[in-house]
Amino acid sequence: MKALITGSGGLIGSECVRLLAGQGWAVVGVDNDMRQVFFGPAASTEANVRALRESFPGYRHVGLDIRDRAGVRALLKDERPDFIIHTAAQPSHDKAAAIPYDDFDVNAGGTMNLLVAARDYCAESPFCFTSTNKVYGDRPNYLPLIEKEKRYDYADIDAIDESMSIDSCLHSIFGASKAAADVMCQEFGRYFQMPVGIFRGGCLTGPQHAAVELHGYLAYIVHCAVAGKSYKVYGYKGKQVRDQIHSHDVANLFLHFYRKPRCGEVYNLGGGRGNSLSILETVDALAAMGYRLAYEYTGQNRKGDHICYISDLSKLQSHYPDWKLEYDLPRILSEIVQRNLNQHE
Ligand SMILES: NC(=O)c1ccc[n+]([C@@H]2O[C@H](COP(=O)([O-])OP(=O)(O)OC[C@H]3O[C@@H](n4cnc5c(N)ncnc54)[C@H](O)[C@@H]3O)[C@@H](O)[C@H]2O)c1
Repeated sequence: MKALITGSGGLIGSECVRLLAGQGWAVVGVDNDMRQVFFGPAASTEANVRALRESFPGYRHVGLDIRDRAGVRALLKDERPDFIIHTAAQPSHDKAAAIPYDDFDVNAGGTMNLLVAARDYCAESPFCFTSTNKVYGDRPNYLPLIEKEKRYDYADIDAIDESMSIDSCLHSIFGASKAAADVMCQEFGRYFQMPVGIFRGGCLTGPQHAAVELHGYLAYIVHCAVAGKSYKVYGYKGKQVRDQIHSHDVANLFLHFYRKPRCGEVYNLGGGRGNSLSILETVDALAAMGYRLAYEYTGQNRKGDHICYISDLSKLQSHYPDWKLEYDLPRILSEIVQRNLNQHE
């Protein structure tokens, strides 16, 4: 069996390569290290790609840019993969406003290139698209909230499900380009009856994240705590909440989707309430592990930033009852800490 994974050097893409190649799949990885162009040398995913090449003989790397329409068509025509996982993206909410053309061309245009080529050369192959909870824009901020000592929480609901509207709210340029891709993926699922799954990620994390301030919040905050760097908290008193899911749990879910695909289905994907924490709670958890985070607070929140986002996983769990989260917060944190310690040795 052969998989094609875009963004194969990135956090989610590289985890998917490890999972599938580890199970004997042939994997074609597409990544042009554009993360380095977006965020600078610290964000390069080259080391991840090198490690994949060294570890898995069945891994073939292609440094193709997904904006290259002819190149994407030629690759899919040659490879005709049995499974496509599309994770390549400009992934930062904050960065997108400074590079709106690149953001849209990669996130929306690149996704369109893959969808059309998949329709033409391997329409039966399951296709997983990593969307984002930013497609809901700032709508979650309109939910009634309560303020607790260390976090905000919902007054009336437990978590956010897929029925939330993605319309008529502030998305950020990134949220809008991903929403374009998200809707197009749904359309290929419905209009062409292709097995395309749309996964609206919350905070996807893990030790392989080439984390920088503008993307990879948990890995970056841990990096600051371990390396003794100061971290900047933007608004909401540090009580903003995110639910964290380890990249392994994401990759494993995609494999469940491959075995039982559905056409154009949308899922919220995160760690759920059990894996949710605020920035203040993250600071406490790191202190309990022996790492004191020095942080600076600025009252101005990031534009359109969610105050409290916790994914409702009920739909995922009802469609994929055998899929279970394997990583809880302590396990996620200790893995990221360990990775940072190894890098400092
Ligand atoms: N990490 C998160 O918290 C999170 C949350 C919600 C959604 N997502 C989505 O999940 C996906 C994966 O996120 P991630 O954290 O693994 O990102 P990442 O930045 O670690 O990986 C993305 C990879 O895509 C590559 N890439 C970028 N533009 C490319 C192009 N034009 N052609 C080829 N390769 C290109 C980059 O070099 C990088 O290695 C993205 O679509 C992102 O929007 C991530």
